[in-house]
Amino acid sequence: MKNILTSMLVVLACSAVIAAAAAPTKESEPAHRGKQIYDQWCVICHAAAPRMPGTASLEAKYGGSLPAALEDRTDLAPAFIKYFVRNGVLIMPSFRKTEITDADLELLVDYLKAKDQ
Ligand code: HEC
Repeated sequence: MKNILTSMLVVLACSAVIAAAAAPTKESEPAHRGKQIYDQWCVICHAAAPRMPGTASLEAKYGGSLPAALEDRTDLAPAFIKYFVRNGVLIMPSFRKTEITDADLELLVDYLKAKDQ
């Protein structure tokens, strides 16, 4: 009985150590909230990967003169991003404010490092 209790304690102690190691440290930067929104709604079409409808379409549109993946662009103006998110284009759907709130859209714009122009 004592042996069983001891091994249970050892297992518990090990789990605690593993859990502590897996937990993010306090010093680490929290992920940008805008990236979470991007990953939830946009990356499925705009990832920098083959066979992505958004990335492939923008590759064709700009012919390589601008990066095809949105996250690599530095030229995106806030109003430009907001227009496409609220109106859609080709197969890109428009996103309702119940899906992406105005506040979330600001975070998304901030994440894409858009600059006022
Ligand atoms: C179902 C796929 C799909 C999803 C999801 C999607 N897009 Fe798109 N998006 C596209 C396609 C396709 C185009 C390219 C249209 C073209 O070739 O002109 C596009 C174009 C754009 C453009 C215009 C870029 C340019 O230079 O013309 C912006 C900005 C954009 N998307 C932002 C977003 C954001 C932000 C999200 C997430 C909220 C998103 N898209 C979600 C498919 C998608």
